Amino acid sequence: MSVERTLTIIKPDAVAAGHIGDIIKILESNKFVIAAARMVSLSKKQAEGFYAVHRGKPFFESLSKFMSSGPALVMVLEGENAIARLREIMGTTNPANAAPGTLRKLYATTIEHNAIHGSDAPETAAFEISYFFPGLELL
Ligand code: CMP
Repeated sequence: MSVERTLTIIKPDAVAAGHIGDIIKILESNKFVIAAARMVSLSKKQAEGFYAVHRGKPFFESLSKFMSSGPALVMVLEGENAIARLREIMGTTNPANAAPGTLRKLYATTIEHNAIHGSDAPETAAFEISYFFPGLELL
């Protein structure tokens, strides 16, 4: 087990619903340390660049619009096994299938408006962290 960094986004739906504090409280109680954070209002182009891996999928257009629809909180989280652990406490992409107590079960409303993003692998985390925090020193 090693200390890792992962990128998370509290998405526009959860920010608009006033859940930033609730979500950070759960992250901190799960021993994640916030290494960097910034509020962003993404342009559609920025959202498309972030989700470039999904270009061509049926939900890409709608996802890019949603992610640029209002403020979002982007954070780099640090901790033991951070990438997998964050995905565990987020729950499945579709909140309808998410386990009780997971962030998406608690705060997501649909598969698209699913409250929070978390990197899914070390290579993705490296790309996503540098997308929002290009100057952040490496661990
Ligand atoms: P996220 O973990 O941020 O990664 C890609 C996002 O695309 C995902 O969360 C959802 O918000 C969205 N997404 C994935 N699959 C679908 C789908 N089938 N329909 C609509 N949106 C989706």
